[in-house]
Amino acid sequence: MLSAGVGGGETAIRAGKLRRVMRLRFPQGSGNEFAGRVEAVGAGVELSPGDAVWGLMPHGTFGAIAEKVVVPRDRLAPLPAGLDPVAAGSLPVSGTTAITALEEKAALRPGERLLVRGATGGVGSAAVQLGRHLGAHVTAMASARNLDWVRALGADVAVDYRTTGPGDLDPFDVIVDLVGTDLPAYRRRLTRGGRMVALAIAPDAVVSSLAATVLGRALPRPILSFSNNPSARTLARLGELAGPGVIGPVLDRAFALEEVAEAHRLLEAGGVRGKYVVDVRATS
Ligand SMILES: NC(=O)c1ccc[n+]([C@@H]2O[C@H](COP(=O)([O-])OP(=O)(O)OC[C@H]3O[C@@H](n4cnc5c(N)ncnc54)[C@H](OP(=O)(O)O)[C@@H]3O)[C@@H](O)[C@H]2O)c1
Repeated sequence: MLSAGVGGGETAIRAGKLRRVMRLRFPQGSGNEFAGRVEAVGAGVELSPGDAVWGLMPHGTFGAIAEKVVVPRDRLAPLPAGLDPVAAGSLPVSGTTAITALEEKAALRPGERLLVRGATGGVGSAAVQLGRHLGAHVTAMASARNLDWVRALGADVAVDYRTTGPGDLDPFDVIVDLVGTDLPAYRRRLTRGGRMVALAIAPDAVVSSLAATVLGRALPRPILSFSNNPSARTLARLGELAGPGVIGPVLDRAFALEEVAEAHRLLEAGGVRGKYVVDVRATS
Protein backbone atom coordinates (compact mmCIF):
# COMPACT_ATOMS: atom_id res chain seq x y z
CA MET A 1 0.00 0.00 0.00
CA LEU A 2 1.21 3.52 -0.76
CA SER A 3 -1.48 5.77 0.67
CA ALA A 4 -5.01 5.90 2.08
CA GLY A 5 -7.39 8.83 2.48
CA VAL A 6 -8.71 9.94 5.87
CA GLY A 7 -12.46 10.37 5.29
CA GLY A 8 -14.15 13.40 6.85
CA GLY A 9 -17.23 11.39 7.79
CA GLU A 10 -15.16 8.76 9.52
CA THR A 11 -14.52 10.77 12.68
CA ALA A 12 -18.20 10.46 13.64
CA ILE A 13 -18.18 6.76 12.74
CA ARG A 14 -15.06 6.20 14.89
CA ALA A 15 -16.72 8.05 17.78
CA GLY A 16 -19.64 5.62 17.57
CA LYS A 17 -22.19 8.32 16.72
CA LEU A 18 -23.51 6.43 13.66
CA ARG A 19 -23.23 2.88 14.95
CA ARG A 20 -26.99 2.28 15.00
CA VAL A 21 -27.54 3.71 11.53
CA MET A 22 -24.64 1.82 10.00
CA ARG A 23 -25.07 -1.32 12.14
CA LEU A 24 -21.35 -1.40 12.89
CA ARG A 25 -19.60 -3.58 15.42
CA PHE A 26 -16.44 -2.26 17.02
CA PRO A 27 -13.49 -2.39 16.80
CA GLN A 28 -13.46 -1.34 13.14
CA GLY A 29 -10.60 -0.46 10.84
CA SER A 30 -10.35 3.02 9.39
CA GLY A 31 -10.16 4.32 5.83
CA ASN A 32 -12.13 3.43 2.73
CA GLU A 33 -9.90 4.44 -0.22
CA PHE A 34 -6.32 3.80 -1.19
CA ALA A 35 -3.58 3.80 -3.82
CA GLY A 36 -0.93 1.10 -4.00
CA ARG A 37 0.72 -1.69 -5.93
CA VAL A 38 -0.71 -5.13 -6.53
CA GLU A 39 1.09 -7.75 -4.48
CA ALA A 40 -0.83 -10.88 -5.50
CA VAL A 41 -3.96 -11.72 -7.52
CA GLY A 42 -6.52 -14.50 -7.49
CA ALA A 43 -7.18 -16.86 -10.40
CA GLY A 44 -8.51 -15.18 -13.54
CA VAL A 45 -7.64 -11.62 -12.45
CA GLU A 46 -5.84 -9.85 -15.27
CA LEU A 47 -3.79 -7.55 -13.02
CA SER A 48 -0.16 -8.42 -12.24
CA PRO A 49 2.01 -8.02 -9.17
CA GLY A 50 3.60 -4.57 -9.25
CA ASP A 51 0.75 -2.86 -11.13
CA ALA A 52 -0.07 0.59 -9.76
CA VAL A 53 -3.77 0.74 -8.77
CA TRP A 54 -6.23 2.72 -6.73
CA GLY A 55 -9.59 1.80 -5.33
CA LEU A 56 -12.07 1.43 -2.52
CA MET A 57 -12.84 -1.05 0.21
CA PRO A 58 -16.01 -3.13 -0.31
CA HIS A 59 -19.16 -1.12 0.40
CA GLY A 60 -19.73 -0.50 4.10
CA THR A 61 -16.34 -1.80 5.21
CA PHE A 62 -13.27 0.02 6.46
CA GLY A 63 -9.59 -0.74 6.94
CA ALA A 64 -7.78 0.90 4.00
CA ILE A 65 -5.40 2.67 6.40
CA ALA A 66 -3.12 -0.34 6.59
CA GLU A 67 0.00 -1.82 5.05
CA LYS A 68 -2.03 -4.23 2.88
CA VAL A 69 -5.66 -4.73 1.88
CA VAL A 70 -7.53 -7.55 0.14
CA VAL A 71 -10.34 -6.39 -2.16
CA PRO A 72 -12.46 -7.79 -4.99
CA ARG A 73 -11.26 -6.96 -8.51
CA ASP A 74 -14.12 -4.54 -9.22
CA ARG A 75 -12.96 -2.22 -6.41
CA LEU A 76 -9.65 -1.56 -8.21
CA ALA A 77 -8.66 0.42 -11.29
CA PRO A 78 -5.30 1.32 -12.80
CA LEU A 79 -3.78 4.40 -11.16
CA PRO A 80 -3.95 7.15 -13.81
CA ALA A 81 -0.51 8.01 -15.16
CA GLY A 82 0.97 11.20 -13.77
CA LEU A 83 -0.91 11.20 -10.46
CA ASP A 84 1.19 11.49 -7.34
CA PRO A 85 0.64 8.10 -5.65
CA VAL A 86 0.49 9.59 -2.15
CA ALA A 87 -2.07 12.26 -3.01
CA ALA A 88 -4.00 9.79 -5.20
CA GLY A 89 -5.08 7.69 -2.21
CA SER A 90 -7.31 10.57 -1.13
CA LEU A 91 -9.51 10.57 -4.23
CA PRO A 92 -11.31 7.25 -4.94
CA VAL A 93 -14.13 7.81 -2.41
CA SER A 94 -14.39 11.59 -2.72
CA GLY A 95 -14.15 11.56 -6.50
CA THR A 96 -16.61 8.73 -7.15
CA THR A 97 -19.04 10.28 -4.67
CA ALA A 98 -18.89 13.60 -6.54
CA ILE A 99 -19.34 11.85 -9.92
CA THR A 100 -22.31 9.82 -8.66
CA ALA A 101 -23.90 12.93 -7.14
CA LEU A 102 -23.47 15.37 -10.03
CA GLU A 103 -23.46 13.16 -13.12
CA GLU A 104 -25.51 10.09 -12.18
CA LYS A 105 -28.07 11.41 -9.64
CA ALA A 106 -28.48 15.13 -10.35
CA ALA A 107 -27.58 14.96 -14.08
CA LEU A 108 -26.08 18.46 -13.77
CA ARG A 109 -26.29 20.39 -17.04
CA PRO A 110 -24.11 23.22 -18.41
CA GLY A 111 -25.33 26.62 -17.26
CA GLU A 112 -27.16 25.31 -14.19
CA ARG A 113 -26.58 26.92 -10.83
CA LEU A 114 -24.91 24.55 -8.37
CA LEU A 115 -24.50 25.03 -4.61
CA VAL A 116 -21.91 22.89 -2.83
CA ARG A 117 -22.45 23.02 0.92
CA GLY A 118 -19.30 21.78 2.67
CA ALA A 119 -17.19 22.74 -0.32
CA THR A 120 -13.67 22.65 1.10
CA GLY A 121 -13.62 19.06 2.40
CA GLY A 122 -12.89 15.87 0.50
CA VAL A 123 -16.15 15.40 -1.39
CA GLY A 124 -16.85 19.13 -1.64
CA SER A 125 -13.51 19.94 -3.25
CA ALA A 126 -14.11 17.20 -5.85
CA ALA A 127 -17.68 18.45 -6.45
CA VAL A 128 -16.50 22.04 -6.99
CA GLN A 129 -13.96 20.88 -9.59
CA LEU A 130 -16.43 18.60 -11.35
CA GLY A 131 -19.26 21.16 -11.27
CA ARG A 132 -16.99 23.68 -12.93
CA HIS A 133 -15.90 21.13 -15.56
CA LEU A 134 -19.55 20.28 -16.34
CA GLY A 135 -20.21 23.93 -17.07
CA ALA A 136 -22.28 24.85 -14.02
CA HIS A 137 -22.13 28.16 -12.16
CA VAL A 138 -20.68 26.99 -8.83
CA THR A 139 -21.39 28.57 -5.44
CA ALA A 140 -19.30 27.14 -2.60
CA MET A 141 -20.25 27.39 1.08
CA ALA A 142 -17.15 27.31 3.25
CA SER A 143 -15.61 28.83 6.33
CA ALA A 144 -14.24 32.39 6.08
CA ARG A 145 -10.56 31.44 5.93
CA ASN A 146 -11.19 29.13 2.96
CA LEU A 147 -13.21 31.44 0.68
CA ASP A 148 -10.29 32.54 -1.52
CA TRP A 149 -8.97 28.98 -1.55
CA VAL A 150 -12.23 27.51 -2.83
CA ARG A 151 -12.55 30.21 -5.49
CA ALA A 152 -9.05 29.28 -6.68
CA LEU A 153 -10.23 25.67 -6.86
CA GLY A 154 -12.99 26.61 -9.31
CA ALA A 155 -15.96 28.12 -7.48
CA ASP A 156 -17.52 31.17 -9.16
CA VAL A 157 -18.84 32.45 -5.82
CA ALA A 158 -17.82 31.56 -2.26
CA VAL A 159 -19.92 32.35 0.81
CA ASP A 160 -19.15 32.01 4.51
CA TYR A 161 -21.47 29.43 6.06
CA ARG A 162 -21.25 31.07 9.49
CA THR A 163 -22.71 34.38 8.26
CA THR A 164 -24.91 33.19 5.37
CA GLY A 165 -28.06 31.10 5.84
CA PRO A 166 -30.32 29.46 3.27
CA GLY A 167 -32.63 32.50 3.18
CA ASP A 168 -29.75 34.72 2.06
CA LEU A 169 -29.09 32.67 -1.07
CA ASP A 170 -30.41 32.96 -4.63
CA PRO A 171 -32.14 29.85 -6.07
CA PHE A 172 -30.14 26.85 -7.29
CA ASP A 173 -30.86 24.10 -9.80
CA VAL A 174 -28.74 21.58 -7.91
CA ILE A 175 -27.61 21.54 -4.28
CA VAL A 176 -25.03 19.05 -3.05
CA ASP A 177 -25.22 18.95 0.74
CA LEU A 178 -22.30 17.56 2.74
CA VAL A 179 -23.42 18.83 6.13
CA GLY A 180 -26.80 17.22 6.88
CA THR A 181 -28.48 20.00 8.89
CA ASP A 182 -31.33 22.35 7.78
CA LEU A 183 -32.08 20.24 4.71
CA PRO A 184 -35.73 21.42 4.28
CA ALA A 185 -34.62 25.07 4.40
CA TYR A 186 -31.96 24.50 1.75
CA ARG A 187 -34.38 22.48 -0.37
CA ARG A 188 -36.67 25.52 -0.48
CA ARG A 189 -33.85 27.32 -2.38
CA LEU A 190 -34.28 24.94 -5.33
CA THR A 191 -35.68 26.19 -8.62
CA ARG A 192 -38.62 24.42 -10.25
CA GLY A 193 -37.06 21.22 -11.60
CA GLY A 194 -34.27 21.53 -9.06
CA ARG A 195 -32.82 18.62 -7.12
CA MET A 196 -30.80 18.25 -3.96
CA VAL A 197 -28.31 15.47 -3.33
CA ALA A 198 -27.92 15.09 0.44
CA LEU A 199 -24.94 12.95 1.39
CA ALA A 200 -24.23 13.58 5.06
CA ILE A 201 -25.92 12.43 8.23
CA ALA A 202 -25.32 15.19 10.78
CA PRO A 203 -23.73 13.27 13.68
CA ASP A 204 -25.47 15.37 16.34
CA ALA A 205 -28.86 15.42 14.57
CA VAL A 206 -29.11 11.91 13.16
CA VAL A 207 -32.90 11.58 13.36
CA SER A 208 -33.78 14.91 11.70
CA SER A 209 -31.10 14.40 9.07
CA LEU A 210 -32.41 10.96 8.12
CA ALA A 211 -36.06 12.03 8.33
CA ALA A 212 -35.52 14.97 5.95
CA THR A 213 -33.74 12.71 3.48
CA VAL A 214 -36.37 9.97 3.56
CA LEU A 215 -39.35 12.37 3.42
CA GLY A 216 -37.69 14.44 0.69
CA ARG A 217 -37.38 11.54 -1.75
CA ALA A 218 -40.92 11.76 -3.09
CA LEU A 219 -41.22 15.56 -3.25
CA PRO A 220 -41.42 17.38 -6.60
CA ARG A 221 -38.02 18.98 -6.00
CA PRO A 222 -36.55 15.84 -4.50
CA ILE A 223 -33.87 15.25 -1.93
CA LEU A 224 -31.81 12.45 -3.44
CA SER A 225 -29.34 10.43 -1.40
CA PHE A 226 -27.13 7.40 -1.76
CA SER A 227 -24.43 5.51 0.06
CA ASN A 228 -21.39 5.55 -2.20
CA ASN A 229 -20.90 2.14 -3.79
CA PRO A 230 -19.45 2.99 -7.21
CA SER A 231 -19.58 0.61 -10.13
CA ALA A 232 -16.40 -0.31 -11.99
CA ARG A 233 -17.66 2.11 -14.66
CA THR A 234 -17.83 5.00 -12.18
CA LEU A 235 -14.33 4.21 -10.92
CA ALA A 236 -13.14 4.15 -14.54
CA ARG A 237 -14.84 7.53 -15.08
CA LEU A 238 -12.83 8.91 -12.14
CA GLY A 239 -9.68 7.74 -13.90
CA GLU A 240 -10.75 9.52 -17.12
CA LEU A 241 -11.29 12.76 -15.19
CA ALA A 242 -8.31 12.55 -12.85
CA GLY A 243 -5.74 11.58 -15.52
CA PRO A 244 -5.96 14.95 -17.29
CA GLY A 245 -6.45 16.79 -13.98
CA VAL A 246 -10.15 17.66 -14.30
CA ILE A 247 -10.65 16.35 -10.75
CA GLY A 248 -7.29 16.38 -9.01
CA PRO A 249 -6.59 15.02 -5.56
CA VAL A 250 -6.50 18.00 -3.21
CA LEU A 251 -3.96 17.12 -0.56
CA ASP A 252 -3.93 19.20 2.60
CA ARG A 253 -1.38 17.17 4.56
CA ALA A 254 0.14 13.69 4.65
CA PHE A 255 0.49 11.74 7.89
CA ALA A 256 2.47 8.63 8.80
CA LEU A 257 0.50 5.49 9.66
CA GLU A 258 1.03 5.97 13.39
CA GLU A 259 -0.26 9.58 13.17
CA VAL A 260 -3.80 8.74 12.05
CA ALA A 261 -5.27 9.79 15.42
CA GLU A 262 -3.76 13.25 14.90
CA ALA A 263 -5.39 13.42 11.44
CA HIS A 264 -8.78 12.64 13.05
CA ARG A 265 -8.20 15.33 15.72
CA LEU A 266 -7.45 17.91 13.04
CA LEU A 267 -10.53 16.91 11.01
CA GLU A 268 -12.66 17.33 14.13
CA ALA A 269 -11.14 20.78 14.73
CA GLY A 270 -12.28 21.84 11.21
CA GLY A 271 -10.64 23.83 8.46
CA VAL A 272 -9.35 21.04 6.20
CA ARG A 273 -8.54 22.05 2.62
CA GLY A 274 -9.28 18.96 0.56
CA LYS A 275 -8.06 15.80 2.25
CA TYR A 276 -5.68 14.41 4.80
CA VAL A 277 -3.94 11.29 3.61
CA VAL A 278 -1.86 8.59 5.26
CA ASP A 279 1.46 8.00 3.49
CA VAL A 280 1.92 4.38 4.44
CA ARG A 281 5.68 4.32 3.83
CA ALA A 282 6.42 7.51 5.81
CA THR A 283 7.66 7.48 9.38
CA SER A 284 6.80 10.18 11.90
N1 LIG B 1 -23.38 9.34 1.17
C1 LIG B 1 -22.16 9.05 0.75
O1 LIG B 1 -21.98 8.16 -0.08
C2 LIG B 1 -20.97 9.80 1.29
C3 LIG B 1 -19.70 9.62 0.73
C4 LIG B 1 -18.64 10.38 1.24
C5 LIG B 1 -18.86 11.26 2.30
N2 LIG B 1 -20.11 11.36 2.83
C6 LIG B 1 -20.40 12.27 3.94
O2 LIG B 1 -20.26 13.59 3.46
C7 LIG B 1 -19.80 14.43 4.52
C8 LIG B 1 -18.57 15.17 4.05
O3 LIG B 1 -17.51 14.24 3.85
P1 LIG B 1 -16.05 14.80 3.57
O4 LIG B 1 -15.15 13.64 3.51
O5 LIG B 1 -16.07 15.77 2.44
O6 LIG B 1 -15.82 15.61 4.95
P2 LIG B 1 -14.79 16.76 5.30
O7 LIG B 1 -13.58 16.60 4.45
O8 LIG B 1 -14.65 16.78 6.78
O9 LIG B 1 -15.54 18.07 4.83
C9 LIG B 1 -16.64 18.61 5.47
C10 LIG B 1 -16.67 20.08 5.11
O10 LIG B 1 -17.89 20.65 5.56
C11 LIG B 1 -17.61 21.97 6.02
N3 LIG B 1 -18.68 22.38 6.92
C12 LIG B 1 -18.89 22.02 8.20
N4 LIG B 1 -20.02 22.60 8.67
C13 LIG B 1 -20.55 23.30 7.64
C14 LIG B 1 -21.69 24.11 7.48
N5 LIG B 1 -22.56 24.29 8.47
N6 LIG B 1 -21.92 24.68 6.28
C15 LIG B 1 -21.06 24.50 5.24
N7 LIG B 1 -19.93 23.75 5.34
C16 LIG B 1 -19.70 23.17 6.52
C17 LIG B 1 -16.26 21.87 6.66
O11 LIG B 1 -15.64 23.14 6.68
P3 LIG B 1 -14.78 23.63 7.96
O12 LIG B 1 -13.93 22.44 8.35
O13 LIG B 1 -14.01 24.77 7.45
O14 LIG B 1 -15.79 23.96 9.02
C18 LIG B 1 -15.55 20.88 5.71
O15 LIG B 1 -14.89 21.56 4.66
C19 LIG B 1 -19.57 13.51 5.72
O16 LIG B 1 -20.71 13.56 6.55
C20 LIG B 1 -19.45 12.13 5.10
O17 LIG B 1 -19.83 11.10 5.97
C21 LIG B 1 -21.17 10.66 2.34
